[in-house]
Amino acid sequence: MTTAALVLAAGRGERLGRKEPKAFVGLCGRSLLARSVSALCAVPEIDWVQPVLPPDAGQLPADETAWIHPKLLDPVPGGDERQDSVRLGLSGLPESVEFVAVHDAARCLVTPESVSAVVRAAWTGRAALLASPVSDTIKRVQGRQVIETPPRSECWAAQTPQVFAVDLLRDALELAWNDVFLGTDDAELVERMGVPVEVVLGESDNFKITHPEDLARAERVLADRGEA
Ligand code: C5P
Repeated sequence: MTTAALVLAAGRGERLGRKEPKAFVGLCGRSLLARSVSALCAVPEIDWVQPVLPPDAGQLPADETAWIHPKLLDPVPGGDERQDSVRLGLSGLPESVEFVAVHDAARCLVTPESVSAVVRAAWTGRAALLASPVSDTIKRVQGRQVIETPPRSECWAAQTPQVFAVDLLRDALELAWNDVFLGTDDAELVERMGVPVEVVLGESDNFKITHPEDLARAERVLADRGEA
């Protein structure tokens, strides 16, 4: 099954408070983007890896190793919204691609083993994502008022990669475009078409680097892995 990965790196990441785009920020000497690309290139089920860069970035951040790999495609520019970046990333893929794994470059500690598991689930059921059960009780809130407490046993935190049959994701993006609907992840676009999406247990280290303290947490994970 020909499978590609989109590595989304087109966001500014303003909450990190750095002048360069978030995915270009260094972590123990390598950018978040380079780390994500290397993890995805190491997955046997993935044939192609497509970076999606900020429209004004020009070129990939300096890295001596990550950009020399036979699976790596030329980067394409992303868009204003994450959903636009997915759409633009899809348009750069070879026609032979049947499945696509959409991954946030900012989740740069993902392991090839987790990626393999979610890709294989999607090969069977057409749509799957990595996620982890939440330990806190989740509240739906409007203003400052709680409007719902969904059963905690049914609440999972979505991660990436999220993997789909390419045709299914294209249809979901087109429907969202027509409905002027902006989702907060890709699976949501597929769910609203009534298509089942399977959850595959992800690792707690696959968190999204968002705030400055997340970089320190990521450094500790890399030190534990002996990679710092
Ligand atoms: O902003 P947030 O951290 O939720 O973004 C998740 C991922 O999506 C990041 O890796 C970011 O670079 C990417 N993104 C993108 N295009 C955008 C916005 C976000 O590729 N317009």
